[in-house]
Amino acid sequence: MENFHLTMPTDIYFGKDSIKKITKGLNQYKKILLVAGSGSIKKNGVYEKVTQQLDSMKVKWVELWGVVPNPDIEKVREGIKLIKENDLQFILAVGGGSVIDTAKAIATGFYYEKDPWELFYDERKVQKALPIGVVLTLPATGSETNGNSVISNRETREKLAIHNDILRPRFAILDPQFTYTLPPIQTAAGSADILAHIFEQYFSNSKAYMIDRISESIMKTVIKYTPIALEEPENYEARSELMYASTLALNGLLSSGKISDWATHAMEHEVSATHDITHGVGLAILFPSWMKHCYSDERAGKYLDYAKNVWDISEKDPFNAAMMAIESTSKFFKDIGLPSSFTELKIEQNYVNIWTDSIVKRRKSIGSFKVLFEQDIKSIYQSAF
Ligand code: NZQ
Ligand code: ZN
Repeated sequence: MENFHLTMPTDIYFGKDSIKKITKGLNQYKKILLVAGSGSIKKNGVYEKVTQQLDSMKVKWVELWGVVPNPDIEKVREGIKLIKENDLQFILAVGGGSVIDTAKAIATGFYYEKDPWELFYDERKVQKALPIGVVLTLPATGSETNGNSVISNRETREKLAIHNDILRPRFAILDPQFTYTLPPIQTAAGSADILAHIFEQYFSNSKAYMIDRISESIMKTVIKYTPIALEEPENYEARSELMYASTLALNGLLSSGKISDWATHAMEHEVSATHDITHGVGLAILFPSWMKHCYSDERAGKYLDYAKNVWDISEKDPFNAAMMAIESTSKFFKDIGLPSSFTELKIEQNYVNIWTDSIVKRRKSIGSFKVLFEQDIKSIYQSAF
């Protein structure tokens, strides 16, 4: 195992009616900013449940609505202004990853004297943040307990991330019932994102036996329960398993003692930046290509583990087992209703060069399982058409 540092300061309140635990989470904060998306929480009653609790605690709040998927920096600027004008002390994110990431960017942008987008060009400038809390409605990103925020800038057509433990939420309310109303595509894309987070950490050259076995069991959980959640949206057991899988997949646990990869995420963020596609959809398209591209004799052991322990493939020949496992991965994504190629999304092939140029202008290479240079990146994008 590699050396590592892990902090998990978020209080998790999981289960039916866990919204009542918001009183513990909010504690002494009496003037807060409530951040939300485009209205799903009004339709499914989550907003009412949250605000009833706030009222009962005599908490005053200001609302910031309209966070969009692939959230934009403009909303972050708006939020910082609201905090300053109203002298607010705490940020409550009620929604999915986009809402939570916006809350985090507001939390640190508040303390940065210049434009918050500068933080995304140089994350060392992230020094201080207001406290935030989360009511999660979409299991996918792990943003409910991690320290990442991914924000887009539609003016510059960029999508960039900051990572810092000071951005980890103080508490996260995880009520699986709040995910019953998810549209099927969001359930499926969320599961693809959870799996993708595990792939990014699992496919590593570092040795971490126990963490790999935990990773495999979370992958198996997502593979088992996603079709059930799609078939029966109000199946509490399925929604519960997916919700906690999302949290564990990206809270730092699975990269304990490992060097993780993140090349595919870097590549997907370029696609979302130019075409505003759903993050999990882009990952489901790219990951099978990435897996094929990275296969080699020296990395075959990892593929064999993946084939045997995740897909129950008993084939002994490493190459054949790897290809069968990649095929199972593609089929799973297809079966849960996700597209398999950029062609299906009507994206033009000339974007291969645009996306690749955008990556290599910032970094000479990406990834670590196999280090990818310009030609590798192009080739993975190309085979995803
Ligand atoms: O806008 P609202 O009304 O909230 O509707 C949302 C949105 O349209 C809807 N939704 C959420 N919960 C719902 C619901 N609809 C009905 N019922 C519910 N219970 O779903 C749509 C998508 O929401 P969004 O928050 O965008 O999805 P997700 O959680 O997948 O977040 C994606 C964003 O997170 C970033 C992605 O790049 C993308 O920008 N990521 C953040 C990470 C992190 N912070 O660690 C890591 C990830 O790799 C990822 O990059
Ligand atoms: Zn992701």
